[in-house]
Amino acid sequence: MSVPPPEARNEAGPETPNLDFEGTTPYEDYVQADVLTHLQHPLSDEPGEMVFLVATQVMELWFTVLVHEWQVACEALRQDELPVVLEALRRSTWELESLNASWKPLAHLTPVQFNAYRAALGDGSGFQSAMYRRLEFLLGDKSASMLVPHRGAPRVHAELEKALYEPSLYDEVLGYLARRGHAVPPEVLGRDLSARYVPDPRVEQVWANVYAGGQDTPEVRLGEALTEVAELVWRWRNDHLVATRRAMGAKSGTGGSAGVAWLEKRAAKTVFPELWTARSHV
Ligand code: HEM
Repeated sequence: MSVPPPEARNEAGPETPNLDFEGTTPYEDYVQADVLTHLQHPLSDEPGEMVFLVATQVMELWFTVLVHEWQVACEALRQDELPVVLEALRRSTWELESLNASWKPLAHLTPVQFNAYRAALGDGSGFQSAMYRRLEFLLGDKSASMLVPHRGAPRVHAELEKALYEPSLYDEVLGYLARRGHAVPPEVLGRDLSARYVPDPRVEQVWANVYAGGQDTPEVRLGEALTEVAELVWRWRNDHLVATRRAMGAKSGTGGSAGVAWLEKRAAKTVFPELWTARSHV
């Protein structure tokens, strides 16, 4: 057994945590905190840039967790394992709440505060986030043109391209409903998976029937879990929109878009559309 260093010997006792490790701590080996906390390289001298960078990195991590959860849900849907699906979706709603709470430090920037480091961001924009794009693809908002910014990063491009052709979470949900005997049209089930999902009145009718029936069915539980996810994604988009409006008004974005006007259009899109429109027919 190794001899603890003198500073550890003074403190060590039966009730104190272990202080003596041969190499890096098991915590470090697992969390890689040293890597994580040395990934912050602000581009300006402005003190406020650090929180902008870290909040963005934190959101990227939450995007990663959400993609993981929805992939778990997709796999479980393929196996018709509803409890596993609901569990993954429920976890993802807590994660979405945490993601959305990450707006707090950025939600009140004045134009002067944002301008102090905006120029340093150059052409960089969240629009170029590959993990956010995977998240949108899983929600059904597919678009081949969104791969273009990633041509220079082969691994990222390959992952996104794979995701483009895979069924979205909503595609898997519709497959599950069809196997449970609901009249999801074959054209919807056999649609081009790499194209943006287009709402279909017959799918709306499926959800209307589901919601008009018994309230404690697997289908209603699934519909409500998805609605929760959709609402929280919509909140993220809206919090982003409002934070942007406060920080830069109607100026164009660093990514080259019209800025707020472009984000308004994005925020106006509903996630899992027929789950919302069906409510008018119940
Ligand atoms: C207050 C600070 C922020 C402002 C003013 C802002 C502004 C904008 C603007 C104007 C766009 C449109 C594209 C462009 O021309 O750049 C955009 C897109 C985007 N931003 Fe932000 N942003 C902010 C913070 C963040 C943060 C912290 C994230 C987290 C990763 C983020 C993620 C995104 C994403 C994912 C898009 C693309 C949205 C889509 O494709 O629908 N933004 N942002």
